[in-house]
Amino acid sequence: MSAIGAPINRTDGWAKVSGAARYSAEHFPPQMAHAVMVTSTIPAGRIKRIEADAECPGVLLVMTHENAPPLPPGMKAGKLQPPIGRVLSLLQDDAVHYNNQPIAVVVADTPEHAREAAARLHVEYETAPAILTFEQARQHTYPPDKVLGESADTRRGDFEAGMLAGSVQLDATYVTPYETHNPIEPHATVAAWDGEHLTLYDSTQYIKGVQSIVSTILGIRQEQVTVLCPFTGGGFGCKGSVWSHVVLAAMAAKQVGRPVKLVLDRNQMFGPVGGRPITEQRMRLSAMADGRLTASGHDVIAYTSMIEDWIEPCALVTRMMYESPAQQTSHRLARMNLGTPTFMRAPGEATGSFALEAAMDELAYELGIDPIEMRLRNYTERDPQKQLPYSSKSLRECYQLGADRFGWSRRNPAPRSMREGDKLVGWGMATATYPTHRMAASATVVMHPDGHVLARSATQDLGTGTYTVMTQVAADAVGVPVEHARFELGDSRMPEAPVSGGSMTVASVSSAVHAAGQALRLKLIGIAAADALSPLRGVQPDDVDAADGWLSMRSDPQRRERMSSIVKRHGGPVEANAKAEPGSESEQYSMHSFGAVFVEVHVDETLCEIRVPRVVGVYGVGKLINAKTGRSQLMGGIVWGLGMALLEETVFDERVGRAVNGNLAEYHVPVNADIGNIDVLVVDEEDPHVNPLGAKGIGEIGITGVAAAVANAVWHATGKRVRDLPITLDTLL
Ligand code: MOS
Repeated sequence: MSAIGAPINRTDGWAKVSGAARYSAEHFPPQMAHAVMVTSTIPAGRIKRIEADAECPGVLLVMTHENAPPLPPGMKAGKLQPPIGRVLSLLQDDAVHYNNQPIAVVVADTPEHAREAAARLHVEYETAPAILTFEQARQHTYPPDKVLGESADTRRGDFEAGMLAGSVQLDATYVTPYETHNPIEPHATVAAWDGEHLTLYDSTQYIKGVQSIVSTILGIRQEQVTVLCPFTGGGFGCKGSVWSHVVLAAMAAKQVGRPVKLVLDRNQMFGPVGGRPITEQRMRLSAMADGRLTASGHDVIAYTSMIEDWIEPCALVTRMMYESPAQQTSHRLARMNLGTPTFMRAPGEATGSFALEAAMDELAYELGIDPIEMRLRNYTERDPQKQLPYSSKSLRECYQLGADRFGWSRRNPAPRSMREGDKLVGWGMATATYPTHRMAASATVVMHPDGHVLARSATQDLGTGTYTVMTQVAADAVGVPVEHARFELGDSRMPEAPVSGGSMTVASVSSAVHAAGQALRLKLIGIAAADALSPLRGVQPDDVDAADGWLSMRSDPQRRERMSSIVKRHGGPVEANAKAEPGSESEQYSMHSFGAVFVEVHVDETLCEIRVPRVVGVYGVGKLINAKTGRSQLMGGIVWGLGMALLEETVFDERVGRAVNGNLAEYHVPVNADIGNIDVLVVDEEDPHVNPLGAKGIGEIGITGVAAAVANAVWHATGKRVRDLPITLDTLL
């Protein structure tokens, strides 16, 4: 029985629901002190005076730019290994570049004392003019160096001529707001020095990145830092980079000579640790009467901070999605006095697919073509930008299956034509897509004399199922029942694994676990073959089957032995290691997941309240390792998309640049009552090119297309095109 594909329960489920799973802030090394990060209350300027209240009890350290340890020579605020290493605020100068920027760390014997002393820290500023509206910022734009390694701008064919060649044109601008990740577990770091060795319990999507960045900034060797993170309470991209508080915690712990815990409060999640930037996307499309595009243009402006360039790569999706003989895309940055933005839930594809797929819907209506048919007329089997075939693409099947499941053929194409009581009913659809990434990863797999298999890799589980799926991969690779396998992660001393971002953990780490498991199996066969006491003595490796914890000879199945007996006689655990890395596949194929999303909205005709009673999402994501956790993850992505479409927006006070809804009460995300029926289907898809198991990433594709499908459904219900997210009821009044 193969474990891969089976809908097994989460192997860490019990630990999660019983509280046995310990998150970063739940570690209490002896003598631990408590730190509070203090942040600026102005958006621009400098600190004139900063003074602690001497009366505050229990204070061990007030670290400011006046007394913070200097970084090693040449290590400025340090933009290291971007984008994992960011431009940080490490109290090296008095400058303030945004509101909520770290300006001090207060350490005390108790959390209460630290909080009180932080609140009573006296700060005087000299303020400087700040850019706090996107409107002002966008008057001065500039191109970023690169967009995720690709050119900021592209042109193919003659764009202007292509725009004129079509019979119908669209020129529309779409806007998405600042959004904040808000994992339920905030960023948290416990830093403990033992002489010259630093141990960090840090909530992160990349333990090896934390190890490398922190050691570099502090000027110590990588081996002097151990990073532990067995459980990450959600990330969504903000924990993919190392932010200021991690290094500040290590610096403070060194200063006070005690372990230090630093947990960001919820409000500090709104600025110092990234967010999704405001984007403005101009879409220009031109098509012939039959729906075929003659030109497509996608011009993006996104804000970035004063201290670092970070671009939301919105137009990449337009480059690869549809056949379009002429095309122009561009990305521009506009500086604001806000924190540096970062990766958030399909950065680029989530925002870019909103603009592209809403624009395609608008054009389809103008042409009188069904939205699915419009997409099929521009369907391509080759990536039109890279000029490479897709490694696999099941999008036709996704459209077909989704349409059938949803009942799309019963849609009356006219807006405001469908209703249910006093609700206007709208049906909309959009295409989903996300690239398939993979990076080098290593793993070790051990069999113990009791027959149990333990696999390890320094990867992360953000709550998405890494523990579970890697257990399945290890079990199958060795040939033991899944109950006899276990997977461990979250310790920088384990074999190296990449960031859990870009939806690539499974693609990268499963390849290494699979290779190490197979190497272990071969090792066991070799040991048995060389052992005069084994029934398998003298056997050839390719004449052996491994299943259920047994090795048996294919040509003579009577000759078999339990793997555990082989290990026992061997006298101790047998271990194998493997490193797996991508080859040149990405030069031969364009690798992406695809899907189709269908949404029904009900809009109250009087109150304009928008509800989403049902969503159908159909995806081609290669091999799904676990049918249950995989479906849950895609469903979670759709929930993000509904939040993006209808609820999420970080609102900044335009006078001071501080988030006015910097808390979970007022930063709205979908709750259970907001979610109707979500139907997720995954088509069978074989992809021999992406990685050995053929598993494309599923972490982020779920959000893509959803905002457009909702906007298209809202238009179908009401006749109103809302091009600014989120679509709140006031936009329909
Ligand atoms: Mo994801 S936004 O690449 O962590």
